[in-house]
Amino acid sequence: MKKIAVFASGTGSNFEAICNRLSLENWDAEIALVVSDKPNAKVLEKAEKAGVPTYAFQPKSFAGKEEFETAILEQLKLRQVEWIILAGYMRLIGSTLLRAYPQRIVNIHPSLLPAFPGKDAIGQALTQGVKVTGITVHYVDEGMDTGPIIAQRALPIQEGETREQLENKMHKLEHELYPEVIKKLLQQN
Ligand code: GAR
Repeated sequence: MKKIAVFASGTGSNFEAICNRLSLENWDAEIALVVSDKPNAKVLEKAEKAGVPTYAFQPKSFAGKEEFETAILEQLKLRQVEWIILAGYMRLIGSTLLRAYPQRIVNIHPSLLPAFPGKDAIGQALTQGVKVTGITVHYVDEGMDTGPIIAQRALPIQEGETREQLENKMHKLEHELYPEVIKKLLQQN
């Protein structure tokens, strides 16, 4: 059984979608750990409800990224995690985890990369007034949302659409695409 870890900093709706698909379709996989850099993040409550072990840490209580990633790595090794799935983890992954998981860390980003990398991709798209945006699943490298693209879905922005409406549509699309892509990656590798 493939063991995956989901990293998240926020509400965890993507974690929930992956968790639901995994059990509904009986994947030969398990979410062995949820990692969060925000000890109060909603995703941790969701994980606990789903019976998934969690590891939450305060980045400020470590000397730096290398130190907290070393602590995370210890947890991942303990649970024999093979894949890291970033689902709203709002931190750049450093060399400690990249070296330990080459081509085994994936991310979902709410834009059609390489457009609008970094923070608030939805806000960036609205400010720029683009007519089409979307979502991207990609491998993680040392850059900010720069790794090789695995899958994308486009989403037109309607005239007068509010940020909330657009966010809801994006999330719905993410909840379909991300579990699908993860399922394939686990089957192929
Ligand atoms: C998702 O929309 C994801 O694409 C985005 O954070 C949200 C997390 O939502 N990720 C990024 O912006 C990464 N740069 P969730 O906590 O409800 O899954």
